[in-house]
Amino acid sequence: MGYVIAMAGKGGTGKTTIAALIVRLIKEKKLGSVLAIDADPNSNLGEVLGLKQKSTIGEILDEISTHPEKVPVDMGKDHFIEYQVQTAIVEGEGFDVLTMGRPEGPGCYCYVNNALRNVMGKLIKDYDYVVIDNEAGLEHLSRRTTRSADAFVVVSNASAVGLKAAKRIRELIKELKINVKKELLVINSSQENIEKQRIDDLKLDYLGSVPYDMDIEKISLNGNSLMDLNEKTASLSALRKIGERIWQRN
Ligand SMILES: Nc1ncnc2c1ncn2[C@@H]1O[C@H](COP(=O)(O)OP(=O)(O)OP(=O)(O)O)[C@@H](O)[C@H]1O
Ligand SMILES: [Mg+2]
Repeated sequence: MGYVIAMAGKGGTGKTTIAALIVRLIKEKKLGSVLAIDADPNSNLGEVLGLKQKSTIGEILDEISTHPEKVPVDMGKDHFIEYQVQTAIVEGEGFDVLTMGRPEGPGCYCYVNNALRNVMGKLIKDYDYVVIDNEAGLEHLSRRTTRSADAFVVVSNASAVGLKAAKRIRELIKELKINVKKELLVINSSQENIEKQRIDDLKLDYLGSVPYDMDIEKISLNGNSLMDLNEKTASLSALRKIGERIWQRN
């Protein structure tokens, strides 16, 4: 059964970067099969992991809702959606990637969204780990992918605004009744030590911080993959040290 790790945090705090590093560390530790889900329509998790995207789930939903006649009569809509989702998965070395995208058309998505939720539920069972990179905000989580996560990783920088967003995310998890086993906090790209009181206020389980890393900036500037990051680089070493609770199955 897939152990689900979901990312959250204010825009630009490093959710996609940390998600990619988590995928890399799960692979490095040989913990099992991994599906990375890019659930941010404006994001690029696949690219950051060094893979070219195929079709997105959004495109598949558009196609099915605007051309229902394309569903083979002997297959049924649910099976067709399941099949399409399978073909949208890109296989990498030691991990797979699925890109959600966003449906653009005017069609009614209620049915397809429900079917999709079922498919995602099944898909999660096919992998040992599922790492979901989310957009800033949480509402999409209840809509599209899953309403539960084993580890919710909130990423923040050291700024007051970032920490306030982290606090709001924790409140949203409660309001949306998302079933979360661990609510973890990672401070990313920080040079400063944050006062303990400010961290305690968030009521998240604080793991520690990942430093600002020139190697990440270089990779990002050149559009290269974080899979090529040197294994001894500061950010990866830090996450390897503090991240155990993210992927530990209890
Ligand atoms: N520890 C770090 N050291 C150096 N640069 C970093 C670090 N973490 C993230 N970055 C850089 O900061 C930028 C934002 O990071 P990222 O895209 O991971 O944030 P995000 O939270 O996913 O953003 P968005 O909300 O737009 O999806 C990227 O250019 C990334 O390369
Ligand atoms: Mg992102």
